[in-house]
Amino acid sequence: MDDISYRIIVDDAARDQAPLATLCGRVFGAFDPGYLDRLASVVDPVLVQALHGDAPIGFKLGYRRGATLFYSWLGGVDPDWRRRGIAEQLTIIQHDRLMALGYATVETRTRANNNAMIILNLRSGFEVRGFEIDAAGNPVVTQRKRLAGPT
Ligand SMILES: CC(C)(COP(=O)(O)OP(=O)(O)OC[C@H]1O[C@@H](n2cnc3c(N)ncnc32)[C@H](O)[C@@H]1OP(=O)(O)O)[C@@H](O)C(=O)NCCC(=O)NCCS
Repeated sequence: MDDISYRIIVDDAARDQAPLATLCGRVFGAFDPGYLDRLASVVDPVLVQALHGDAPIGFKLGYRRGATLFYSWLGGVDPDWRRRGIAEQLTIIQHDRLMALGYATVETRTRANNNAMIILNLRSGFEVRGFEIDAAGNPVVTQRKRLAGPT
């Protein structure tokens, strides 16, 4: 489909902030690259990229939060490439890799007004596990998916 390919990058190679910051600028509009500083210290980062030719057009990024718990932290698709199933495909690829790596659960947090992401997560097998107002005063939904084994 449209010459789109997907690539998984793990460990230190996933900490390279420069290309990610450029894509985040496209995905999120106003984006403070300092937000990515967390990448230097997270454990076992996993980055899944969607590429059109050599150009990154979408990504999903997360890291280890426990022995079998993965935190899916950030993700998005270039506005020119949305509603073509790219985020859904990124999610499938991320979850397949997480299972291969031995993770049992994936967790994510999303602003409560982000219908697109919450719907996509529900379609991908997540369930709502929590709701809170974060430190900045934003309502946030926590969603979790059991990747393998009994619920
Ligand atoms: C959320 C986001 C990643 C979805 O990417 P995408 O590639 O367009 O999503 P997909 O095409 O894979 O959509 C899969 C399904 O999710 C749901 N969905 C996606 N975007 C939606 C929207 N804007 N409104 C409602 N449902 C939506 C639909 O059910 C869709 O299936 P359909 O197109 O057959 O109806 C994208 O809108 C985005 O990058 N948003 C900004 C970044 C962001 O909010 N990231 C999350 C916080 S880090």
